[in-house]
Amino acid sequence: MSPPDRAVEAVLAYHCRTKHHLHRYAASPGYLDWATQPDPFRTFGGADRVELPLLAYRLAVAYSALYRPDAVPPLPLDQTSVAMLLELALGLSAWKQYAGNRWALRCNPSSGNLHPTEGYVILPEMPGLTAGVYHYVSRDHALERRCTLDGRAARQLAEVLPPASCLVGLSSIHWREAWKYGERAFRYCQHDAGHAIAAVRYAAATLGWSARLLADASDPTVVAVLGLAQAASFNPVAEADREHPDALLLVGPSPRLAHGVDAESTDVSALREVLQAGTWAGRANPLSPAHVPWPAIDAAAETTWRGDGARASWGWGDAVLGDRAAVWSSPSGSPAHHSAVRLIKQRRSCLALDGTTAMEAARFYAMLDRLLPRPGVPPWDVWPWPAHLHCGIFVHRVRGMPPGLYVLERNPAAHARLRASLATDFDWTRPASCPDSLPLFALAAGDFRERAEVVSCHQEIAGGGAFSLGMIADFSDSIRAAGAWWYRRLFWESGLLGHVLYLEAEAAGLRGTGIGCYFDDAFHDLLGLRDDRFQSLYHFTVGGPIDDPRLMTLPAYFHLDPARGETR
Ligand SMILES: Cc1cc2nc3c(=O)[nH]c(=O)nc-3n(C[C@H](O)[C@H](O)[C@H](O)COP(=O)(O)O)c2cc1C
Repeated sequence: MSPPDRAVEAVLAYHCRTKHHLHRYAASPGYLDWATQPDPFRTFGGADRVELPLLAYRLAVAYSALYRPDAVPPLPLDQTSVAMLLELALGLSAWKQYAGNRWALRCNPSSGNLHPTEGYVILPEMPGLTAGVYHYVSRDHALERRCTLDGRAARQLAEVLPPASCLVGLSSIHWREAWKYGERAFRYCQHDAGHAIAAVRYAAATLGWSARLLADASDPTVVAVLGLAQAASFNPVAEADREHPDALLLVGPSPRLAHGVDAESTDVSALREVLQAGTWAGRANPLSPAHVPWPAIDAAAETTWRGDGARASWGWGDAVLGDRAAVWSSPSGSPAHHSAVRLIKQRRSCLALDGTTAMEAARFYAMLDRLLPRPGVPPWDVWPWPAHLHCGIFVHRVRGMPPGLYVLERNPAAHARLRASLATDFDWTRPASCPDSLPLFALAAGDFRERAEVVSCHQEIAGGGAFSLGMIADFSDSIRAAGAWWYRRLFWESGLLGHVLYLEAEAAGLRGTGIGCYFDDAFHDLLGLRDDRFQSLYHFTVGGPIDDPRLMTLPAYFHLDPARGETR
């Protein structure tokens, strides 16, 4: 027997200690210390700035076309298209105002609207932009040039990057979430990174582009490429403000990229060398005047660090479902005419659900179908690994379906183990009207509204919608097989799932909300899960929203010079 991997055991222990229990929440400050509230916007003082145009409103692409990549003619890679990509992926979507307070919302959601995720682009030379690394400031819709490459290095970058492509980089500032949520915040940062990955994929799809996560990019590579260890850029005293490396995505109109070739063949170590030799500029703004240490988060970040050479044994194409997307590309009742840009910008979390709105079963099935990985179908074509998450669904109000508990199996390879792990008295019947292509099973009939609310930290939104769900990860075995770094990828996958549900809810005229606050083991008990082979990582609800009339909404970029474009 091989000795236990200490990092794996440590991250499993982190997961356990950050569970919310019915009578005890995970350790957190317990109050909001407004004096140390972190600035939601990072800036790099001294870095050259490039203000971007606000032109995404010009993209006349139907939301349904995003799932059929060939349906959107690709735009060339230039300053305008990069600006559109960032506006739709990580840009502001609106400002809200109430009682003298004003706060920004973004196209990517974030637990508590705290936004730990920072975005970067690594661009080849193009008119208006020199080759280099840029940090995106969503508040200003501007780029800050962190790294400039001279002529030779710019040519080297152009050789490393596949033609017609650039990179999007993501990092997390754990402190932003820890400030409010304490030890559990590391989980939320990972959810948010997953949402951001999906947001980039959807934004790329509006341009007719592909996007792929670089499966082999280690944390030292992301640090080097984004300049996260540049001594002059970060205040060594404010360790807590530091950015932790997340992901690199290859993005662009290249047709080769769409077939996965370029992402696998991109030489990340060559990229690292080119960028380390660049000229770095800018100094990060301090986010809070003081910080509260959360050693459990630092330890989780350390144990899930992905060193060079750490790889999962599973790869592209393993257990991906067959290409049956055509069946559901335009389900009955689907509003195929919705503008993709409008939906992306109107995406919001609901504050309350009405407890009455029901949805049609066909729409529900179509929505679940979007959660299945299909070859070449966004957003799952961004994800280089097989699906490890399934959905335990509370159906409350779906016309034509008995209310009850259901399970959607996103990877057929997990069926036997999942079935053996869940309660033995579950039905495992196929809903009468369910299409053959959808691996959905009815487990138990009944009214689960109250139980859904209770397990989601007594939040009414979990019972007041058409359905809510928990995302059940193939957990400890997969972490033991791949290494502790895989823990973060499981959460990223849950963020992707949440993002699909957010947009699908908008497309169906409903509203969704991610639910990070849930009682882990209360949900596991309900499913009959007795060990950590399967664990719920994220909850979600979808239903008819009730808006709060006291909140005033302002346009996303009302505060910028109108000459920079329009957002509609
Ligand atoms: C990972 C994650 C967890 C969340 N958890 C909850 C939750 O437990 N309850 C809730 O009401 N909203 C939750 N939200 C919704 C956020 O509060 C919301 O995304 C944020 O306020 C930004 O608003 P927006 O989604 O409308 O842009 C969550 C969002 C995310 C991304």
